[in-house]
Amino acid sequence: MSAVSPFQETTDKPLDAEALKRDFPILQQPMSGKPLAFLDSAASAQTPERVIEAEARVYREYYANIHRGVYKLSQQATQAYEGVRAKVRDLINAPDEREIVYVRGTTEAINLVAHSFVRPRLQAGDEILITEMEHHSNIVPWQVLAEETGAHLVVVPIDDNGEIDPADFSARISERTKFASVVHVSNVLGTINPVEDLTRRAHERGVPILVDGAQAVPHRPVDVQAIGCDFYCFSAHKVYGPSGIGALWGRYELLADMPPYQSGGDMIRYVTLAKTEYAKPPQRFEAGTPNIAGVIAMGEGIDYLREVGPAAVARHEQALLAYANERLSQIEGLRIIGNAENKAGVISFVIDGAHPHDMGTIMDQEGVAIRAGHHCAQPVMDHFGLAATARASFGLYNTEADVDALVRGIDKVKELFG
Ligand code: ALA
Repeated sequence: MSAVSPFQETTDKPLDAEALKRDFPILQQPMSGKPLAFLDSAASAQTPERVIEAEARVYREYYANIHRGVYKLSQQATQAYEGVRAKVRDLINAPDEREIVYVRGTTEAINLVAHSFVRPRLQAGDEILITEMEHHSNIVPWQVLAEETGAHLVVVPIDDNGEIDPADFSARISERTKFASVVHVSNVLGTINPVEDLTRRAHERGVPILVDGAQAVPHRPVDVQAIGCDFYCFSAHKVYGPSGIGALWGRYELLADMPPYQSGGDMIRYVTLAKTEYAKPPQRFEAGTPNIAGVIAMGEGIDYLREVGPAAVARHEQALLAYANERLSQIEGLRIIGNAENKAGVISFVIDGAHPHDMGTIMDQEGVAIRAGHHCAQPVMDHFGLAATARASFGLYNTEADVDALVRGIDKVKELFG
């Protein structure tokens, strides 16, 4: 474990969200004739001009396929593409850039681990441990695997605050548990799971563990060496980068022992018509021409986040969450879903007599963008006996004025629904 995370920030200066907002062209546009209060960053964050520009610059100035051309353009594109591995490594304090695999996003990362790491180790009757607060992307791949192999999913339940009990997590590990996969921060409840503790508990019983960091990496410092997990993943579109790209980190010795996920060009060392020798990780898992410009733009999003400072972002979003909690808890008939002690900048809620989809539509007319629905986490909805919630989620550009706009939107909903 490295002594000092490259991430540690040397200042505790608060960030200036109002100024940062100006970095995002889309946030300057009005919505329904009102200033836009964008409160759906948990679904996808907006993109700063410099990331848009970085992606455009690839196509304008140095686009060519990577790893293939001896000409300058190809070398420049290859260098920029490969250079992003070190940026991802530093963002999550991974030990080695060879452990960074580019994927389409968190969903593909989990599917890759399910297919290439877990599947070869599973037999009928084995168990995979998850929690009740997982996103569908951390449920369905395991269900598919269970169906194919005769293995079972074991689920750690949440309580009514939206927390799991780590002792219960341990108690559900059995001799047959072959893998655990848990979310770092819940996209619906905002719960920040004690992933260091859960990892320690899984490892005590010899169980490897993946942590889904999709909602953590954009909002707080993440250090995979401190967590101690075996795999960690996130999506660029939540880290102020483009959609359709993300990263999987895995311990090198595990990756090196895994078969490819997909096969084709660029993941091989040597091919004859009789046999193929695979490339080493990470190339082994990156078949075909990848999203070259997307990777480079992801790197720019990471630079942006690191310059603002993940710890500063976490402090800022905590303060906004406290403000939103205070304002929303004064609204009669409104119930906040998810009251974990350790919670990130996500606030799900329901209002008596108003369907979340209607709330979303009414808010839209007020210039407020929130998400309404099951948030790709239907088991969480089932736990609370709901079909849907409304959800406001924060990014580094949100301000108290956005929360005030949310409250005005809620007032409007209440006015219309009596
Ligand atoms: N998983 C994303 C969300 O929470 C799409 O909205």
